[in-house]
Amino acid sequence: MKIAILPGDGIGPEIVAEAVKVLRALALPLEMETAPVGGAAYEAAGHPLPEATLRLAQQADAVLFGAVGDWKYDTLPRPLRPEQAILGLRKQLGLFANFRPALCYEQLTHASSLKPELVAGLDILIIRELTGDIYFGQPRGRRAAPDGPFAGAEEAFDTMRYSRPEVERIARVAFEAARQRRGKVTSVDKANVLETFQLWKDVVTEVHRDYPDVELDHMYVDNAAMQLVKAPKKFDVIVTGNMFGDILSDEAAMLTGSIGMLPSASLNERGQGLYEPSHGSAPDIAGKGVANPLATILSAAMMLRYSLKQPEAAARIEAAVQRVLAQGLRTADIASPGCTVVGTAQMGDAVVQALG
Ligand code: IPM
Ligand code: MG
Repeated sequence: MKIAILPGDGIGPEIVAEAVKVLRALALPLEMETAPVGGAAYEAAGHPLPEATLRLAQQADAVLFGAVGDWKYDTLPRPLRPEQAILGLRKQLGLFANFRPALCYEQLTHASSLKPELVAGLDILIIRELTGDIYFGQPRGRRAAPDGPFAGAEEAFDTMRYSRPEVERIARVAFEAARQRRGKVTSVDKANVLETFQLWKDVVTEVHRDYPDVELDHMYVDNAAMQLVKAPKKFDVIVTGNMFGDILSDEAAMLTGSIGMLPSASLNERGQGLYEPSHGSAPDIAGKGVANPLATILSAAMMLRYSLKQPEAAARIEAAVQRVLAQGLRTADIASPGCTVVGTAQMGDAVVQALG
C-alpha cells in the first residue's frame, strides 16, 4: 500500500509528522513517500504542484495531505499560489466526492459557540461535490464589460455550471452514505435563483427514485446556513455543490467547537483518495509545536478505512483518539479547565501509546 505524504505549509509538516508516527506504529506494510506541495513546493521547485509531486500522488493508493497557504503568497499570480496545488490535485485525480464529517465529541461539547444542548451528540456529514461548479467552470477571467450599465469598464467573471452526470454521481454517493447512517439526505441548492441548481435539484430528485429507503429533502443554501446554527442535529447527510459546500462545511465544523478535530476525505471513482484535516495551514502558530494533530491523525484513519481497506486499523486509531481525550489531554485549541494542555508531538505520542 503506497501513500504519498504531502505536508505542505504552515502547521502542515508538524501535524503530518504526528499522523505518520501513528501510521508507523500500526506496523502495516505501508510504503510512504514525501513530496513538497503548496508554498513549500513553490519555494523548492517554483510551482505549488510540481510534476514529480503530482506523479507521486497519481501513483499512490492514497494521499495524506497537511495544509497549504500563507498570506505571503497572496501577491503571486494565481497559477503559482499554494491553493492551486489542492485544486490541481482534486482535478487531476478526479476527486469529486468530498466527505466532511462534523462530529461533536462528548468531551468538547462546551467548546462550541452554540448552547451545549444544541450540539451535544452532533454527527452530520457534509458531502461536497469537489471538481465542478464555479470553482472550475470555464470561461472565467477579466475583461472590459461587453454590455450592461458599465459597458467598457473592467469586470471579472466566473462560470457556475454542473452537468447531469456530475450531479448524478455525487447524489449516489450521498444516498449510499445515508444508508450507512440515519437514512436522511438534505440536498442544498439555490434553485429559486440559479439554473445550475435547478438542474441539481431535478437530478437529485430523479436519482432518489433508486433509494426509496432514504429520506430526501431540499433546502435553499441561505436557509441551510440558518438551520445549521438553529437546529444542526436535524441534519444527517448534506449534499451540495462545490461552492456552497466550501462555506457550509466551515460553518458546520465550527459548530462542533473543534475544527482541529475534523478529518476529511476526497475520493475518486476508483476509491483513490486524498485525506486532509478540515482546517487550514494556520501560519500564525506554525513552528510553535502547539497545533492540534488529531484532525490529521483521524484523516489517516479515514484513509485506512476508505482507500486502504483496513477498517480494524482505522478503528484502532479512532479508539486511541477517544482514549486520549478521556485521559484529559488537550492541545491549546480545545483546552478546558481541569485538562492537561499538551503540544503537537506529545499529543501524537499519546495517541501512539493509546493504540495499545
Ligand atoms: C477547502 C479550502 C479550499 C477550497 C481552498 C484552500 C482552495 O477552503 O478545502 O475548503 O476552497 O476548497
Ligand atoms: Mg474551505
